[in-house]
Amino acid sequence: MLERIAELDAALATARGGGGEKYVKRHHSRGKLLPRERIELLLDRDSPFLEIAPVAGFQTDFPVGGSVVAGIGVVEGVECVIMANDPTVRGGAVNPVSLKKTQRVGEIALTNRLPMINLVESGGADLPTQADIFIPGGRVFRDLTRLSAAGIPTVSVVFGNATAGGAYVPGMSDYTIMIKDQAKVFLAGPPLVKMATGEVTDDESLGGASMHASTSGLADFLAVDERDGLRLARQCVRRLNWTKQGPAARNPFPEPPKYDPEELLGIPGADLKVPFDPREVLARVLDGSDFDEFKPGYGTALVTGFGELHGYPVGVIANARGVLFSEEAQKATQFIQLANAADTPLIFLQNTTGYMVGSEYEQRGIIKHGALMINAVSNSKVPHLTLNMGASYGAGNYGMCGRAYDPRFLFAWPNAKSAVMGPAQLAGVLSIVARQATEARGQEYDEESDAAMRMMVEQQIESQSGSLFLSGKLYDDGVIDPRDTRTVLGMCLSAIHSGTVKGAANYGVFRM
Ligand code: COA
Repeated sequence: MLERIAELDAALATARGGGGEKYVKRHHSRGKLLPRERIELLLDRDSPFLEIAPVAGFQTDFPVGGSVVAGIGVVEGVECVIMANDPTVRGGAVNPVSLKKTQRVGEIALTNRLPMINLVESGGADLPTQADIFIPGGRVFRDLTRLSAAGIPTVSVVFGNATAGGAYVPGMSDYTIMIKDQAKVFLAGPPLVKMATGEVTDDESLGGASMHASTSGLADFLAVDERDGLRLARQCVRRLNWTKQGPAARNPFPEPPKYDPEELLGIPGADLKVPFDPREVLARVLDGSDFDEFKPGYGTALVTGFGELHGYPVGVIANARGVLFSEEAQKATQFIQLANAADTPLIFLQNTTGYMVGSEYEQRGIIKHGALMINAVSNSKVPHLTLNMGASYGAGNYGMCGRAYDPRFLFAWPNAKSAVMGPAQLAGVLSIVARQATEARGQEYDEESDAAMRMMVEQQIESQSGSLFLSGKLYDDGVIDPRDTRTVLGMCLSAIHSGTVKGAANYGVFRM
């Protein structure tokens, strides 16, 4: 686990390095702050910041981090979603990874009812990849107006360039602050204006902060410098008169777990095939290590039960032994209904190789029972949090509320893997299919190339199943150190309670 954490730390260091030393130095030499410095000054002093998708873009053609820094932090006592362009990464231009991350962060603001603060300084669309971002990218501006329509305030502070589409971020925000002599907000810069209409003009008259604050009216506040801009953003949030809708934590001073969270490092083994008892994890995550297990003697490959985390009541569904059988699926279905009846958020702790296969299990209706569970997860209305603690394979990923099932937040431990099936199984399936096809054509199967194919496929699947690779693709909201599990889930639960927490109506409870 420590080796995996070292890999995570290296990826995080790359993300924090932004566009690299040269660009960071140049940015500082212009008297400007880096995105993380801006965020730090915006947040309440010494309050934590839960970064979302910090290693987005890992193992892709794009820089790690996606040229934006995003997360949840507290401003004037209000939990907000904050997003900051990183101008040291190709001028803060938006590439396909940045776009995916921006959209995910917008979704977090909307589903959890969190005010959104944009710290803008971007060269707009990354021009070489415009084909992948221009058309879908329009949603970002639409979504900003939808946040506003949903009663979720939006604030933007413009630190530098906000050209073309970028101009619509301040354009669509409820409150807009611009930094004097720095912000440049225009639909087209001087060169494009000259090309389009022949007018010869300059940055300041086209889109300078002073012009927007005094003439166009696009800027609501003119800040004298970056720090002043951040002060004004805090002032805007202070005046929102914001209150959370969800119930407050039942216990504001929860008892910490009785067992040392440091020990979480040693619970999963190096071999994912060896299951571990999730009660060992819960004992190091839940308040007072208290867990009231539901149906402990039935469907024992899945653990279900209630507890509290940082004072918030939670239902837990956790894999205990890799495979899910019919009993487990039915138990999960019943438990999800109970949690909905009690308006209690659910935490899914994944460590599953999927639903049981084989003729005996098919005949006993594993598809039907798996479908019950997937249906219950899909139509449950209480907030879901998902953590991949090890394995998340096959339809087990779906039943245990994987990314496609829209959990409010999804994190993975650095040891975790996810794929349609394991590398050896997948290579073996391909081999069997290829052998049958060759034999059907009356040809002889080449064993040597089969072995080479298997090896290649296994390596490919192995490298595409790891948590950093998947986080790079934004299939989760981040890879976390297991020791931070309680803190991360606690911050998410608190953020979730910014909105109402309500189970599905008229769901009833079907005994399974
Ligand atoms: N797409 C792709 N690459 C971009 C880019 C964009 N929109 N904007 C900047 N870059 C690249 C630059 O080519 C440069 O690459 P290099 O260092 O490898 O040569 C790097 O990012 C830094 O840009 P630079 O111009 O040196 O930084 P700056 O801080 O002095 O200026 C901008 C930043 C954003 C003001 C300036 O680059 C710019 O005007 N970009 C174009 C803006 C635009 O018109 N976008 C169209 C939006 S639809």
